[in-house]
Amino acid sequence: MTKITIAIDGFSSTGKSTVAKRLAKALGYVYVDSGAMYRAVTLYAMQNGLIETDCFDIDGLISQLEDIDVSFKFNEDLGFAEVYLNGINVESAIRTLEVSQFVSQVATISEVRAQLVKQQQNFGKDKGVVMDGRDIGTVVFPEAELKLFMTASAEKRAQRRYDELKERGDDVCYDDVLKNVQSRDHIDSTRDDSPLSMAKDAIKVDNSNMTLDEQFEFILKLSEDKI
Ligand code: C5P
Repeated sequence: MTKITIAIDGFSSTGKSTVAKRLAKALGYVYVDSGAMYRAVTLYAMQNGLIETDCFDIDGLISQLEDIDVSFKFNEDLGFAEVYLNGINVESAIRTLEVSQFVSQVATISEVRAQLVKQQQNFGKDKGVVMDGRDIGTVVFPEAELKLFMTASAEKRAQRRYDELKERGDDVCYDDVLKNVQSRDHIDSTRDDSPLSMAKDAIKVDNSNMTLDEQFEFILKLSEDKI
């Protein structure tokens, strides 16, 4: 069976990773969460004093990029690959609201993007990959056979993210989550390098009123039509 590349882009908290993981499992493909890579670099910057509330040492981060190793390791129990920063599992540590508050600034830095995009292209060099992010169909895999662009209202997305954070036990308020979703959408869509935009050949999926099963079935059918 031919293997294809599936690129899933879209706004923050549109449920891209949930459907991408399920799709990868159904097709026997590798799933790569590219956002987790930007989050891991952000966590590194926070842990190393390069980002503090009113100060972001961009040059310092660029000069330390070669010390940052982001990798994935498949977790059999969870059924997906978890992200590691310099050998330490940071799958949970990268999902906090604090990391979300800085990640889009880190993602504007071209040197960071160049390093991560190269790694992402390497992950997908043999096809058979489902990757989600912001620039997968436009920059990382412009030749992807199937490109999806996921969207939903900001309020729905914030509610989903808020529920997720609460379920993990994080002490967050809905308004802060909504502001973060809106601010990331703005920074991600207006940055100079690889802004979030829908590829010309992408299929738009507004999942505001779709269940997870409906999204999965719809996207699985699109994938099978291409394989
Ligand atoms: O997908 P997730 O919300 O975890 O991504 C976190 C952030 O990483 C995004 O808001 C965006 O700033 C950045 N990102 C990016 N390009 C990607 C994936 C994520 O700029 N391909």
